[in-house]
Amino acid sequence: MASSLLLFLLSFLILITSSKSTPTTITIPLSAPSFTKLIVSSKKPWGSLNHLASLSLSRAHHIKSPKTNFSLIKTPLLPRSYGGYSISLNFGTPPQTTKFVMDTGSSLVWFPCTSRYLCSECNFPNIKKTGIPTFLPKLSSSSKRIGCKNPRCSMIFGPEIQSQCQECDSTAQNCTQTCPPYVIQYGSGSTAGLLLSETLDFPNKKTIPDFLVGCSIFSIKQPEGIAGFGRSPESLPSQLGLKKFSYCLVSHAFDDTPTSSDLVLDTGSGSGVTKTAGLSHTPFLKSPTTAFRDYYYVLLRNIVIGDTHVKVPYKFLVPGTDGNGGTIVDSGTTFTFMENPVYELVAKEFEKQMAHYTVATEIQNLTGLRPCYNISGEKSLSVPDLIFQFKGGAKMALPLSNYFSLVDSGVICLTIVSDNVAGPGIGGGPAIILGNYQQRNFYVEFDLENEKFGFKQQSCA
Ligand SMILES: *[C@@H]1O[C@H](CO)[C@@H](O)[C@H](O)[C@H]1NC(C)=O
Ligand SMILES: *[C@@H]1O[C@H](CO)[C@@H](O)[C@H](O)[C@H]1NC(C)=O
Ligand SMILES: *[C@@H]1O[C@H](CO)[C@@H](O)[C@H](O)[C@H]1NC(C)=O
Ligand SMILES: *[C@@H]1O[C@H](CO)[C@@H](O)[C@H](O)[C@H]1NC(C)=O
Repeated sequence: MASSLLLFLLSFLILITSSKSTPTTITIPLSAPSFTKLIVSSKKPWGSLNHLASLSLSRAHHIKSPKTNFSLIKTPLLPRSYGGYSISLNFGTPPQTTKFVMDTGSSLVWFPCTSRYLCSECNFPNIKKTGIPTFLPKLSSSSKRIGCKNPRCSMIFGPEIQSQCQECDSTAQNCTQTCPPYVIQYGSGSTAGLLLSETLDFPNKKTIPDFLVGCSIFSIKQPEGIAGFGRSPESLPSQLGLKKFSYCLVSHAFDDTPTSSDLVLDTGSGSGVTKTAGLSHTPFLKSPTTAFRDYYYVLLRNIVIGDTHVKVPYKFLVPGTDGNGGTIVDSGTTFTFMENPVYELVAKEFEKQMAHYTVATEIQNLTGLRPCYNISGEKSLSVPDLIFQFKGGAKMALPLSNYFSLVDSGVICLTIVSDNVAGPGIGGGPAIILGNYQQRNFYVEFDLENEKFGFKQQSCA
């Protein structure tokens, strides 16, 4: 979180035409741009639950039999100017609606909680200055604190926690000792609170009693609650026993507007798991260590820029047993992150192929993005294609607006970020984080049943 940098930049939308001068470049006309807001949020990859431990727990538990055949739940996913995408969920009896960042890079679901919720450094554009709306357990008849002996306390803290439930050892059955507070460190910011059992309600679809949720009473740099969609047992997909979930992220040009797309939760019940035609697939890899068990690892084999295969060393592409390296898909990261050695290769290749344009050094210094070009004098622009090639042959050819953005009048920058540290970052972790900016206008699915990631380009708005 030390590296957390929130630059609030005005950017223009790049309009792309289909005219291509060569198969590996995209040519864009410099037509009248329209305004869009853009937040640069650098999220480091090593943020995760502090207290991780290995444990086994079946995914689907406490699922009440549905009134109707619950198979698909669609809920609006809204682009937000803090750099993420937001969903609303209803917890409690009667239900209280709270907003959450949809985050595939973490697992606990938590909301800002109680009237005494404190949030430090939480001034985000278009987030109410009068205080972030909070969930009030007092007003819910279904709110229960998680007890120290509750298996879900061990699920979060590991089996060692049982040794700390001393009160329970003496009073045996009627133990009032509760599960200790959780503290979660994210790449940017953190949160702390108490674990609750609550009812999660999808109106007219499904009611899930006894859902494990965090009641956060203190946070740093959190615009909303977080709905963890990661791979650990406490995540929303795990607790609901989802077979699949999918989304299609609309452009950040629609940030803080009512324009949304659907987040689709698929339990596979009723008529079975839905199928989408025309997808490219790549398998999810096993997490290299339990410390990174939240993450959806995919194997990125090649980065192709124009005609050039960037020669990324193997150790960055394949996660090692030490947990370093590899690529994850993270909806909670804005711009794709690449560890410095990888990023340098990518940035240098763009610099080489775009050497005839004027570098905007001042903007580079100001934004931390690189390369940036002043294209105000140009009549047209040729930018090399950027293609991510995954295991199994799946190719993600990014639309130009997913990797170059106009960040100042007449200046475009590559929207990929890095830390400026040589070698693996502190604490290691994934070398490449595929952020939401690069996922926009792709239909993306997390097929949990078949352990694979699927995608196809489409317009999401
Ligand atoms: C546990 O508490 C309940 C209600 O508070 C009480 O009725 C019961 O006798 C207690 N049982 C034990 C073993 O203390
Ligand atoms: C729900 O599914 C079951 C079997 O999967 C079927 O027998 C039943 O008719 C379905 N009910 C509705 C309301 O569709
Ligand atoms: C950008 O930063 C570099 C290194 O800090 C410095 O040498 C250079 O003068 C700066 N350029 C501008 C235009 O601010
Ligand atoms: C870009 O170049 C134009 C001249 O072609 C200049 O007027 C303008 O100030 C430059 N913009 C930046 C941000 O450097």
